[in-house]
Amino acid sequence: MNRKYDDLLPSPDPVSHRLRLISANWKMNLNHLEAIALVQKLYHLLRPEDFRYAEISIHPPFTSLRSLQLSFEADRMPFTLGAQNVSDQASGAFTGEVSAQMLAKLGVGYVIVGHSERRRLFGETSEEVARKAIAVQGTGMHPIVCIGESNDERRAGQTLEVLTHQLDPILSTYPAKDLDGVVIAYEPIWAIGTGESAEPEVVEETGMAIRHLLTERVGAETASRIRLQYGGSVNPGNAHEFMSLGDIDGLLVGGASLDADTFAMLVKSC
Ligand code: PGA
Repeated sequence: MNRKYDDLLPSPDPVSHRLRLISANWKMNLNHLEAIALVQKLYHLLRPEDFRYAEISIHPPFTSLRSLQLSFEADRMPFTLGAQNVSDQASGAFTGEVSAQMLAKLGVGYVIVGHSERRRLFGETSEEVARKAIAVQGTGMHPIVCIGESNDERRAGQTLEVLTHQLDPILSTYPAKDLDGVVIAYEPIWAIGTGESAEPEVVEETGMAIRHLLTERVGAETASRIRLQYGGSVNPGNAHEFMSLGDIDGLLVGGASLDADTFAMLVKSC
């Protein structure tokens, strides 16, 4: 059994005091055997200081959660298990759905809700996303709430309006005392999976605008504790720049997280 990272806990950013979070969103890729092989290689490539810099969450398809839970435990890998979706219902006749309780029982720490692919391809509304986030919170896990505008919306100058609309149901229904446990992932739709990440200036400006909106809605103290991730074509060449932006506390990484060498390089570059 490898115990070399047993005592490693990430340290908060010295300026923002927020814990950085780098999340690997594998989407519908890798079977459970490939998943185990990837995390083992990734663990081997990362150094203890990489785990001290940020918490690293791995979000495989549901079919790999149990395998990764066992791998993390057996080899004491300091990754946090994550999921990509959840039902807003607790249990019952909902064929094909997976509840927050089931995920929590597997040791999942973070659940992505409202990814733009789910909003666009599966018709998820912001109200449904808010219910999912609340279901996640109710079992002690953290939701990673994805928001982001389309190319047309950005060009029409509607970015902030769209983001406000997407966040509104969460901000008005989520238990206020737990809002600081929410992670918000800003993922402009036009930057996802395209290889064309947003310009750091755009992310900086939008991150500040989101923080400002949060401050107005939930007060400065809570707003200053909510973590913001950027996602959309993050790679080892641009990750550091996004991580150095004041309001950005982490990254949500799709394509570049599917290869252990690339993802390890990305984490180390931060
Ligand atoms: P990408 O995906 O890194 O492949 O652009 C990000 C995401 O969809 O979360």
